[in-house]
Amino acid sequence: MMRFARSVVRRGAVIPGSMGADLLEKAESGEMQRSECPALMIDYLAPSLDTTISAIASALMLLAQHPDQWAALKADPSLIPNTVNEVVRLESPLRAFARYVERDTEIGGVSVSAGSRVAVFYASANRDERVWDDPTAFDVTRDAAAQLGFGQGAHGCAGQGLARLETQSILRSIVSRVDLIEITGEPTWGLNNIIHKLDHLPLRLTASGKDQ
Ligand code: HEM
Repeated sequence: MMRFARSVVRRGAVIPGSMGADLLEKAESGEMQRSECPALMIDYLAPSLDTTISAIASALMLLAQHPDQWAALKADPSLIPNTVNEVVRLESPLRAFARYVERDTEIGGVSVSAGSRVAVFYASANRDERVWDDPTAFDVTRDAAAQLGFGQGAHGCAGQGLARLETQSILRSIVSRVDLIEITGEPTWGLNNIIHKLDHLPLRLTASGKDQ
């Protein structure tokens, strides 16, 4: 991928107006080094595709499994941004990242010594029964803004604005056009250490009478 990204930068092979074009313009104007562009392009690509694809697939699966929630969304599409939070909460696309422990400390009654690494399991935090009522329930009306599936702090997900936009766009484009979302076969989950994602999700979408 690095080789590919370098050749994209060398050839200037980016779509006008794209995020890649943005980077090359910044290099051109001296705001950053051209040598930084390939790694940054990979930062746009590597963490962005499977995560968002996972969120979109999980959204469709959950809405198919919970027709009452799909009906709630159809009745009030202003719930779509919150629905994305609720989907990322319940099916957290990123399994875990690690944190380096700088000084001896204690987490939840467990001593952790400086120099250790701690695995941060997003799905676990997102189902913490001390924070969430009925944590395993899918409820598009609960306020899910506090979910941690995009991480938090200085290294919180840099692309969450785009991921939210993409997932919301899919839901907005079908909310008035589709009456029924049905699962027509067994969904299967991928075997992947990093991303929690569906490999296969056979669906049938039934169009609503009116097309808007
Ligand atoms: C639903 C989709 C996504 C999920 C669930 C997700 C989740 C995450 C998580 C949990 C982190 C780590 C945060 C931390 O360490 O505290 C992260 C980091 C990051 N994400 Fe995403 N992400 C998604 C989509 C995207 C997209 C679309 C992009 C780029 C266009 C992106 C770019 C990044 C980058 C560059 C970082 C590293 C930030 C840093 O270390 O400073 N992500 N993401």
